[in-house]
Amino acid sequence: MQKKWWHGKIAYQIYPKSFMDSNGDGIGDLKGIMSRLPYLKHLGVDIIWISPIYVSPFVDQGYDVADYQNIDPIFGSMADFDELLAKTKALGMDIIMDLVVNHCSSEHQWFKKACADLNSKEAGYFYFVKGRNGGAPDNLRSYFGGSVWDKIPGHENEDLYYLHYFAKQQPDLNWSNPALREEIYKMVNWWLDKGIAGFRIDAIHSVMKDLSFPGLPADDIDGLCHASKMNAKMFSKLGIYLSELRDRTFKPHDAFTVGEAFSPSKEVLEAFIGDDGYFSTLFDLSCREVIEAAPSYMEYKKLTVKQFRDCIFGTQQMYNGIGMSAPIIENHDEPRGVSYFMPPYLNNAEGAKAIATVLMLLRGIPFIYQGQEIGMTNTRFDSIDEHEDLFAHDEYNKAKARGWSDADALAICNEHGRDNARTPMLWDDSENAGFTTGKPWMKLHQDHKTLNVKAQYHDENSVFNYYRALIALRKSKEHFDCLTWGAFEPVSVNDAVIAYKRLGESETILVVVNTAKEPLVYETEAEGTLLLSCNEASCTGRTLTLGCGGGAVLSFKK
Ligand code: NOJ
Ligand code: CA
Repeated sequence: MQKKWWHGKIAYQIYPKSFMDSNGDGIGDLKGIMSRLPYLKHLGVDIIWISPIYVSPFVDQGYDVADYQNIDPIFGSMADFDELLAKTKALGMDIIMDLVVNHCSSEHQWFKKACADLNSKEAGYFYFVKGRNGGAPDNLRSYFGGSVWDKIPGHENEDLYYLHYFAKQQPDLNWSNPALREEIYKMVNWWLDKGIAGFRIDAIHSVMKDLSFPGLPADDIDGLCHASKMNAKMFSKLGIYLSELRDRTFKPHDAFTVGEAFSPSKEVLEAFIGDDGYFSTLFDLSCREVIEAAPSYMEYKKLTVKQFRDCIFGTQQMYNGIGMSAPIIENHDEPRGVSYFMPPYLNNAEGAKAIATVLMLLRGIPFIYQGQEIGMTNTRFDSIDEHEDLFAHDEYNKAKARGWSDADALAICNEHGRDNARTPMLWDDSENAGFTTGKPWMKLHQDHKTLNVKAQYHDENSVFNYYRALIALRKSKEHFDCLTWGAFEPVSVNDAVIAYKRLGESETILVVVNTAKEPLVYETEAEGTLLLSCNEASCTGRTLTLGCGGGAVLSFKK
């Protein structure tokens, strides 16, 4: 494997509407981010991924882009962005933007022109397809529920549909059209020339379509089949577009790119993230893939610790020697990791430290999602009206239509909903958690008086300072090589223990985390040096003693 400039870096995801508000309108913005750059530097962050800040009607919170080359006024201006970029670089950090090009917004000029004139150049940027047997061209279900097809606005009386794998207001872009691809490359290069370090690439596994639109056997009683199953079918052809995207944009800029795509099989992994891969890295979304194999929240099942561990370990083993993964435990599409993946008795600061120990020492580029570093848990929503996300509303309505009670329908949204992680960042114990002087656009987390940055910043035992210690360990001169390039090797103890080794040239690092209520006594093969521990784990000679949530990191010199 070639060494790359971004190896050994730590990334942090900002969800801009909820990070920091500078002007009291209750919505996070670029000046707010600027004011918190020293905080991110203090934490040890190198690369900041900002979820979409482009002009948008925010039907899907910015993942519906109406103008790729302008900043939405709620976040500020392009001048603010340039200032943010300069300030970030001055602190030795980089910014990556969110590249949302499977679809745009129905408010984008392209879509408006396309609908106004079906013979226009822009009409060719979308999938405008004739219906079949008096209905939609196929039976795929969109990611947010309902058919992926709708009648073209302004042409409702014609037998003509446009394709949208996500919301109606997110028409899919037609990647089979070279002219559309050129537009995208031009825009991507414009951002890279500005000096951003790269991109997180949204829903990229969706761009390859079967232009005969054959549909698939129904997977639920609505007669539809989830579009993700078509993506899986088309996966092997994705490289056609992705190699061109790489060659025309990312590669000449030596950009850092992280793809949002399903886990590729071992056979094609090299093509995706090898030395000359389409992307630098891919998120490890293996846990989510297992959960989302079910068609709706009604059937989603939380993973056991063993399942969680097996997903992570599977990815780690597959990437060994080929490339780097991007491990995560949560993002703006998932509930908080500590609430979702830890047992109920560890949905707290202890659990946050335990899961941090697992995540932060894996092989790859770990991504921390805002608030994770202080151990934010899921937010408690008392009514469906407190959920902003269109996906939660769709799932709620579906459950109600199938006879579920209000309370039960709300419970599944609270458990699996994306808004769990989208509530404002908790900075201090003031009325609005230091996030805004106005009214926050979204409900505040219930524990904001006690669970916040201010309470943790100077507390040596806080989750925040534990994250700092893990990051400092990864970056320390002595352990950097092992923790950056050392191979991953699983260690088997029992179903409640997550343990692994990193095999460096001059040392082996052992990570052991106990998620059981019962203490674990574990004998190591040799006597090591305890580098870091949490939740009162201790080590005497070769004996490790880990209570509930206990975690230990040991080094064995060769
Ligand atoms: C994945 C993004 O992370 C999610 O928030 C969004 O809804 C979809 N892609 C569609 O862009
Ligand atoms: Ca604001």
